[in-house]
Amino acid sequence: MELHGVDISQGELAQALKRSPKSARFTRARAQQLPFISASFDAVLRHMALMLMSDHQGALKEVSRVLKSSGRFAAIVGADAPISDAQKFFIDCISGYARKEEYEDVSFRESNLRDPIVLRKLFLSHFANVSIDRIEVALLWSAQQAWDWFSSMYDLALRRIDSIQKVKARFLNLVGDNGLKHIVALQLIQATKH
Ligand SMILES: C[S@@+](CC[C@H](N)C(=O)[O-])C[C@H]1O[C@@H](n2cnc3c(N)ncnc32)[C@H](O)[C@@H]1O
Repeated sequence: MELHGVDISQGELAQALKRSPKSARFTRARAQQLPFISASFDAVLRHMALMLMSDHQGALKEVSRVLKSSGRFAAIVGADAPISDAQKFFIDCISGYARKEEYEDVSFRESNLRDPIVLRKLFLSHFANVSIDRIEVALLWSAQQAWDWFSSMYDLALRRIDSIQKVKARFLNLVGDNGLKHIVALQLIQATKH
């Protein structure tokens, strides 16, 4: 089996390289312009990336192009879930910090693909046998585990924060010693080439 990974970010590719079998190959490219010949893959997986892209149609069209006839596509995107106490505490801790100047205009195009109706319509315009399953992962965190999760997201890096340690101390203090429940909600979309 040959494994090819694609991302637009060199940093993400470097992380992937560390965790992958030696035989895996990685290429820096845009999902809307894949550097592969048509009908060359049996399957494509796209994990937590489609919803961040600016041209969803173009990104799916390319997957369909590189898949062999009856090839399979699976993608994971986020889903709506009630905001947890852990999230509320984290937002409370970072909301006073402004965006770094260079990131002021950065926006994550998350919103419309959280709606399964929009998602189905998008996939049906490029694929057959589209199924969408909601997956919920219920987590019970200690304060440190909750911090590790949220601090690994983009939010901290985008903001002008003088002392991350200060933000962390406030978060741990707000959470206290009780465990926190948090639900990660995702959508798994599976489809085949038309
Ligand atoms: C939340 S990360 C997920 C990374 C990886 N798929 C994983 O699951 O660990 C989203 C990724 O989408 C990539 N990305 C966003 N738009 C892209 C595009 N148009 N083409 C290729 N990659 C893109 C970003 O560089 C980022 O690495």
